[in-house]
Amino acid sequence: MSEPAIVVRDLRKTYRTPFRRKKVEALSGVTFTVERGQIFGFVGPNGAGKTTTIRTLMGLIRPTAGSAAILGHAIPSRDARRRVGFLPEAPYFYDYLTVGELLDLAGRLFGMSAAARTKRANELIEKVGLDRARSQSLKKFSKGMLQRAGLAQALMNDPEVVVLDEPMSGLDPIGRKEVRDLILELRDQGKTVFFSTHILSDVEAITDEVAIIARGQLQAQGSPAELVQKTLRGVEVTVRLAADVATAELETGAERVRRVGTELAVVLPADTDVDAWIARAHTAGAKIISVSPRHETLEDLFLREVANADTTVEARP
Ligand SMILES: Nc1ncnc2c1ncn2[C@@H]1O[C@H](COP(=O)(O)OP(=O)(O)OP(=O)(O)O)[C@@H](O)[C@H]1O
Ligand SMILES: [Mg+2]
Repeated sequence: MSEPAIVVRDLRKTYRTPFRRKKVEALSGVTFTVERGQIFGFVGPNGAGKTTTIRTLMGLIRPTAGSAAILGHAIPSRDARRRVGFLPEAPYFYDYLTVGELLDLAGRLFGMSAAARTKRANELIEKVGLDRARSQSLKKFSKGMLQRAGLAQALMNDPEVVVLDEPMSGLDPIGRKEVRDLILELRDQGKTVFFSTHILSDVEAITDEVAIIARGQLQAQGSPAELVQKTLRGVEVTVRLAADVATAELETGAERVRRVGTELAVVLPADTDVDAWIARAHTAGAKIISVSPRHETLEDLFLREVANADTTVEARP
């Protein structure tokens, strides 16, 4: 039986800021599991604790409490690190390098042979669309180009698990789509992809599993479909009315009513007897145009979960 790709158990992190003599509780007990072969979206607003979780996973900072493992190895682990690709949130690059040199350097760190480095770098430069920028130094790269170079760097060691901190940040809609496609391609190759974002449409489109984090705690977790199910809010019915008909009866109990000319659209709460409502509409001489479920978007859900979250962020001095 294979180990999960990533296991995080009750992870806690309190930062101490020496000058202000204050503690910041960035993670207050985060637990989740990423199965192999999954695309896992880690979603949360600014300051939620995404980067802290990821930096802990990569062994760059020490948790205050809790544990984590990658591919069955407790972190920090050199064995695991070799099999993981990592895109940091704000990649720092040596300005004077070209993308080819950057990738070569990454390959050296993973102990790849010169021939393997060249071959892999060429493949990746093409894959991330930096072919035409080969001769430019990274100093001249736009934010989106740097993001692509960072992605290529993260894939240099042909990792089994890919950890990406905001891989779509700084990219335009086409660039975002390309990164989504790249992530899907990685999954098709059997890899596990764990990525953070604060944009929900990025995870709705491609993930197998989503965890929403806010204020250092998970607020919700499930498949995008489960989260959508959780968000069923009502039924919208649109009818065409016979002229001059009174609509008060049809509007009773509706959450929202919109009338444009002879068209009446009402949003009925999820527990309404819709059949009975339609029967009444018929009796009133109305023609049904459409009946459709109404979902809260993941965006709305996100705002609601965040609003419900405990407001204590900072620990006592
Ligand atoms: N080195 C640090 N020292 C003190 N506090 C920190 C440090 N790094 C992060 N924090 C605090 O920890 C909390 C979580 O920050 P983190 O960077 O993990 O959030 P994030 O979800 O990645 O946010 P963003 O979407 O802005 O990248 C924030 O309150 C942040 O101010
Ligand atoms: Mg971050």
